Amino acid sequence: MGPGPINADPRVLRAMSAQLVGQYDPSMTAYMAETQELYRGVFRTRNDATLLVDGTSRAGIEAALVSLITPGDRVLVPVFGRFGHLLVEIAERCGAEVHTIETDWGTVFRPEQIEEAIVRVQPKLLAVVHGDTSTTVAQPLDELGAICRANGVLFYTDVTATIGGNEFEADEWGLDAVTGGLQKCLGGPSGSAPITLSAKAVEVISARKSIEAGIREPGETSRPDRIRSNYFDLAQILDYWGPRRLNHHTEATTMLYGSRECARILLEEGVDAAVARHRLHGTAMLEGLRALGLSIFGDQEHRMTNVVGVAIPDGVNGDAVRGELLSDYGIEIGTSFGPLHGKIWRVGTMGYNARKDAVLVTLASLEQVLRRAGAPVTGGAGAAAAYDVYDSESAV
Ligand SMILES: Cc1ncc(COP(=O)(O)O)c(C=O)c1O
Repeated sequence: MGPGPINADPRVLRAMSAQLVGQYDPSMTAYMAETQELYRGVFRTRNDATLLVDGTSRAGIEAALVSLITPGDRVLVPVFGRFGHLLVEIAERCGAEVHTIETDWGTVFRPEQIEEAIVRVQPKLLAVVHGDTSTTVAQPLDELGAICRANGVLFYTDVTATIGGNEFEADEWGLDAVTGGLQKCLGGPSGSAPITLSAKAVEVISARKSIEAGIREPGETSRPDRIRSNYFDLAQILDYWGPRRLNHHTEATTMLYGSRECARILLEEGVDAAVARHRLHGTAMLEGLRALGLSIFGDQEHRMTNVVGVAIPDGVNGDAVRGELLSDYGIEIGTSFGPLHGKIWRVGTMGYNARKDAVLVTLASLEQVLRRAGAPVTGGAGAAAAYDVYDSESAV
């Protein structure tokens, strides 16, 4: 019950135990094509260029940025938590001239603040995290696409922590590049990064396409301005997933099976229903934690549905409470990073764990552990408040 990874859906684990097949086996190429179509549904896009990058979410981020950025390009990153800093770090390593605006952890930017920075910096790319797991708040993105379009800026976001559990519309919101991961609301393991690219992003990336020696067609040559990574070269990876089926890496077949199953589960439930489920269980957890006497962290108007930040009560050893919850109840909740380290816990309700029983058992267990740690808790109040949320929902 932390900020992810979380327990994988048993269906995903079963799918991942299937036998391996090679890249040119027709069943494999059919799986790849099917998975692309499934992720168009997950991201809510018609982008042809929708595929998987083999690696954890960070691999998806790195592939998007290294493929879109030519050294010297200006990139704007609004930073509101740890993962904004990660975008800065990766963009810098890609040779970008990175500009940032920052806001306190737990808050987000108003669209006008980002627009003002875009007009001032004139970047090629706006790179912004959707939900920054480190702070439990999500940056509204719905107005940024139009601002980017009006200023000729490419628009990238990292939806690792939000996709499948929070409202997200790649096409409607005008995104050019989006990357995610399986280990949060999608209920899978880390190790595969779904990605989608607009036609404009594909054009930018393909302009630097350079096929590696040994698999080039006659007449194809290496370009001096080629993408600065081979593994994350989306121009080549697009050819690997596209009709050319150009060999690149050896597909992580087991992760393909897992990614496919995550998307199948989500689309069977329906994206809107899954978002509503995350909102319900997230609210039950939030109200339960509040009723236990804990203060909630961050701008609640922009809270992510799937993770709640709570202040560690004065005099309580945060790591000792987490340790006891894990050893005595088998429940893991999260610590936090940077300025929030030692100050808040992060409690998740996501993917397979966005369930009533998981919420109630976590609240009841945490109450006992908090009491033993000397925190003033109101007996039974946490689970009771969560029940109130469930009862009011079923009364609607
Ligand atoms: C918002 C966000 N982006 C990126 C990452 C990095 O993901 P990974 O550890 O899978 O590379 C995480 C991990 O928690 C995340 O929450």
